[in-house]
Amino acid sequence: METNDYYNRILRDLRISVTDRCNFRCRYCMPEEIFNQDYPFLSRGDILSVDETVRIARIFARLGVQKMRITGGEPILRKELPEIIAGISQTQGVKDIALTTNGSLLAQQAAKLREAGLMRVAVSLDALDDETFMRMNGGKARVQQVLDGIDAAAEAGLLVKVNMVVQKGVNEHALLPMVRYFREKGHILRMIEYMDVGNSNGWDWKHVVSKKEIVERISAEFPLEPADPNYTGEVASRFRFLDGKGEIGVISSVSDAFCSTCTRGRLSADGMFYTCLFATKGHDLRELLRSDASDDEIAERITSIWRGRHDQYSLERESAREGQGGGAKVEMSRIGG
Ligand code: GTP
Ligand code: 5AD
Ligand code: SF4
Ligand code: SF4
Repeated sequence: METNDYYNRILRDLRISVTDRCNFRCRYCMPEEIFNQDYPFLSRGDILSVDETVRIARIFARLGVQKMRITGGEPILRKELPEIIAGISQTQGVKDIALTTNGSLLAQQAAKLREAGLMRVAVSLDALDDETFMRMNGGKARVQQVLDGIDAAAEAGLLVKVNMVVQKGVNEHALLPMVRYFREKGHILRMIEYMDVGNSNGWDWKHVVSKKEIVERISAEFPLEPADPNYTGEVASRFRFLDGKGEIGVISSVSDAFCSTCTRGRLSADGMFYTCLFATKGHDLRELLRSDASDDEIAERITSIWRGRHDQYSLERESAREGQGGGAKVEMSRIGG
């Protein structure tokens, strides 16, 4: 079964956040001054249980979702993560199950997660030097800890991609060292344009290094050619190294939006369904899960939300930003990117 939105985009991917907590305090996502002990993090009872999470995933799969991605916060902080992954990976219709993580706890957990059915990981890493990396993550982890996590994931048989947010004047200098390192390792590195997600990172256009600039800089050392997407609606634009030694990706939500093919829904840990990364409002599915609603009734509700979906924030960024007055978007740490 396929579910289409107002612009005829089907619901094919679901990104499920399993916790809004994180052991990092990246300045562009959870700045320490805001995300401190006074911050209203979700409580245990707010968060969907393993059974509720697996049930809702099954309902989404019935509606045509084939790709599931587990996110956070930092999803490995959730103790029951292996059970959640096992439940989702056994769901009929799910062809791909991936995890987005900061990698700091991956060395201990990779083998267990692979065993539970996980196929792929996207590990975030913004620099290869501790000074820059720690400045960006709030001093919470060193580079080597993440590199060890990446090695453990690859050894456990997980497919690894690495995501780097590029911020002008902050970690631009790390671009080529990162490319050199991951090219040798054989992992696909993807550069993400710095985005105006959430409400607390003080984003401005002048902090963005555009896709064009990123590709030019890398090409100066490693000539690149564009490659076709692996599938319609792929988030990253792919570029192959001309010498045949692998590829990189660039995620250009700011300079070259990809909303027209966006098939992604997002579920926060407390069961709110968001139809865009920049949404100001979620739809409460937890209330339904905790009522006596049947799977069919919940499926109908999701279908009706998706049918009414008009989101294309990145295509309309200027006017959308004005319309919102800069406030009240969902926080990145609630829906994991
Ligand atoms: P693949 O399944 O390997 O193609 O990965 P993916 O690109 O779907 O997932 P990943 O979590 O690695 O995405 C990388 C980053 O791209 C996310 O953390 C977000 O920052 C950004 N991103 C993903 N989806 C969207 C989207 O729909 N809109 C915007 N603006 N950014 C997105
Ligand atoms: N802009 C771009 N990417 C971001 N991420 C978090 N905040 C931002 C932002 N403001 C990235 C993380 C991680 C993924 C979940 O999203 O670095 O790779
Ligand atoms: Fe944590 Fe990821 Fe946000 Fe950094 S970007 S604070 S690692 S959730
Ligand atoms: Fe999809 Fe919203 Fe991202 Fe556009 S901005 S690609 S609609 S999540």
